[in-house]
Amino acid sequence: MTNFERIPRSAQEQELLDRAAHILPASARTPTMSLDSAIIVKEGRGSKLRDLSGNEYIDYLLGSGPMFVGHCHPAVVAAAHEAIDHGSSYLLPNEAAVLLADAIVKETPCAERVAYGSTGSDAAFFALRLARAYRKRDKILKFEGGYHGQTDHAMMSNQWTKQPADYPTPVPNSEGIPAATAGDVLVAPYNDIDRAASLIEANADDLGAVIVEPMQRTVTPREGFLEGLREVTRRLDIPLVFDEVVTGFRFGLGSAQGYYGVTPDLTAMGKSLSAGHPLSVVCGNDELMQYGAGVRRLTGDYVAMTGTFSGNAVSCAVGLAVIKELQKEGVYEALFARGRRLSEAVASACEKNDIPCQIAGEPPAFEPWFTDQPVVDYRSSMTADPKLTYGFAQALFNRGILKAHEKFFISIVHSDEDIDVTIDAMGEAAEEIAANR
Ligand SMILES: Cc1ncc(COP(=O)(O)O)c(C=O)c1O
Repeated sequence: MTNFERIPRSAQEQELLDRAAHILPASARTPTMSLDSAIIVKEGRGSKLRDLSGNEYIDYLLGSGPMFVGHCHPAVVAAAHEAIDHGSSYLLPNEAAVLLADAIVKETPCAERVAYGSTGSDAAFFALRLARAYRKRDKILKFEGGYHGQTDHAMMSNQWTKQPADYPTPVPNSEGIPAATAGDVLVAPYNDIDRAASLIEANADDLGAVIVEPMQRTVTPREGFLEGLREVTRRLDIPLVFDEVVTGFRFGLGSAQGYYGVTPDLTAMGKSLSAGHPLSVVCGNDELMQYGAGVRRLTGDYVAMTGTFSGNAVSCAVGLAVIKELQKEGVYEALFARGRRLSEAVASACEKNDIPCQIAGEPPAFEPWFTDQPVVDYRSSMTADPKLTYGFAQALFNRGILKAHEKFFISIVHSDEDIDVTIDAMGEAAEEIAANR
């Protein structure tokens, strides 16, 4: 038995939840989609989160990924304090921004040059703009179920698409997107290189970019898929953009492109790099990145990628501290070992309770999909049973384990003890959802 005993919601937490629901309708969120799991976060430390009523959770949500080195990592806190003592945001270059760009170039296969944004949405958007400027073409091809942030072109046929259309027709994922935007987006099935390559070839004259999450959500690339995309885009001279906002620095210092061994022309990164401080990166080869060079403002052929907080001194100092932590020996080996233990434990708990389950992803970020179909693309992931998905997340929450309903994010500070406790909770959660099917 796991020994988590919930402290009842305090009057103060309830009052703030009520106010949030009223005044912050877009931000009033719960981890499991059930109001039972609504909390107000008081603080995070290491692998744990504490709510305002005093409950402590082992955190696999990690702020949707960025807290890869854990909450309040001492090196991060020290770097942020040290930086903030000297000022925060200047619009002009600062030492940490230059040193961090250097470190990114050293570690990231595609990176010859770097530009900063503040959010992952910025970085993916800047990458598409650079690619379009180079190609002098407007259309982009993306993959069904892939997420590239909140900009209008990106918000098409992502992981919230209830009714996919026939390829390559996109489905907008929000109201308020100009109808014309859909005309510039083509959608292909992830992991189907024949289909994707023939769409790219047929539309090559109109395409400015092909953008893909190398691991799409938690769906891993089939052998040959990323390589095939690389081949067809190189042959047709269409920039290939990897959106590594989730996978950047998470799968290794060389990110997913190093891990899978395929180098794109441009990459968007964010999240893990800056431990919760606003920072994103677009990086890539010199020719493409030079479109952003400030002097080109005077000559034309210029791509604007500015932002008031982009490359601010505090976030960049934190980024440097994070990379230093990740460069320590054995960090990724330990991370992968813990993630592997956890994912194997979910699989066996489900098997023991006759729950259909496919583990998708890589050990540092994975998801149990409750379906008997192999999960290889967005449509196969839609076969997962939502009752089991949300039920599992809720049952874990009730046992002091916090996860998104989208994935388990593992940090480098989850301990073996955290994993042991989580494995016990997973066993009980699997029994519970099996009993309620
Ligand atoms: C792959 C990917 N790209 C882009 C984004 C957007 O990043 P942000 O929320 O920082 O704008 C996300 C966010 O979850 C993401 O997962």
